[in-house]
Amino acid sequence: MNPTGRATPANPSTSAAPHAPVLELEHVTLELGGRVILRDTGLVVNQGEFIGVLGPNGAGKTTLMRAVLGLVPAANGAIRVLGQPVERGNASIGYMPQTRSALAGRRVRGRDFVAMAADGHRWGLPHADSATRADVERVLDLVDGRKLAERPLSELSGGERQRLLLAQCLLGNPRLLLLDEPLISLDPHHQKSVVELVRRVQQELGIAVLFSAHELNPLLNALDRVLYLGSGVAALGTVDEVITKPVLSRLYGSPIDVMRVNGRIFVMSGDVEVEKHDHEHEHDENGGHAHTHGHQHDSRNGHTHDV
Ligand SMILES: Nc1ncnc2c1ncn2[C@@H]1O[C@H](COP(=O)(O)OP(=O)(O)O)[C@@H](O)[C@H]1O
Ligand SMILES: [Mg+2]
Repeated sequence: MNPTGRATPANPSTSAAPHAPVLELEHVTLELGGRVILRDTGLVVNQGEFIGVLGPNGAGKTTLMRAVLGLVPAANGAIRVLGQPVERGNASIGYMPQTRSALAGRRVRGRDFVAMAADGHRWGLPHADSATRADVERVLDLVDGRKLAERPLSELSGGERQRLLLAQCLLGNPRLLLLDEPLISLDPHHQKSVVELVRRVQQELGIAVLFSAHELNPLLNALDRVLYLGSGVAALGTVDEVITKPVLSRLYGSPIDVMRVNGRIFVMSGDVEVEKHDHEHEHDENGGHAHTHGHQHDSRNGHTHDV
């Protein structure tokens, strides 16, 4: 413990370069099935940043996260996490995948569900060692979820389940969280509480977060910078730098207008709000790739339509 009463960050010496950025992409090209998803992209995410990851459906938000996890190899260039080349199973990264299959129906108790992730999905708490139990209690405290964790998943609301999923991601003290569409299928009230929770935990731990979402507005008060993807291009910067007519028109490949109303920002293609339109058919359980295989991403008219 240091004089502030907080534990010092876990093993700063284990990362090769203690002051390295959390995430670096250098001339990175990502391809899937022979299609370029991201072309010759460079960017740096620093320690302690909350990055909102946006872009039309199919822009490559999930693919980028999977590349950072070492699950999609870069066709070109280098990706580094804390100064190290990507590798599968990197304990510095916590990941919440986009598809959270059928959690709502599960009778498993919240605390056991969180513990499963620590145990490699085998045993749950009764068999966990004391270090794992302590880590489970630590992450439940972080999300204020001890009481929730007494109940089965099937009795929790979507927002409450998200808190436990966030707790899972925090096991093992990661320095980078990749949260893929945590707001999908939540109502605006729960969306707000999930964003606020992630922001609080992120600041408390001083970690970096990539948080992908359909819509910018729910993230506006939380994010430090925006990473907007589209047409194989990435733009990283503040909201004022990125959410502009010229930048977004380039990413969407068609003329985009940006309107600000009462502190909210609307990204418009003609009279259509593109973020809403892109995703209006998406749902949690099948919001992944099932319907998008084989479809060309048609960015000429400013949206995709893949159902
Ligand atoms: N395994 C795959 N093989 C080929 N194409 C894929 C595969 N997975 C996803 N894609 C395509 O890659 C593009 C990027 O997808 P994705 O990263 O899921 O975008 P986002 O998360 O931004 O909606 C989409 O056009 C999708 O259809
Ligand atoms: Mg996705």
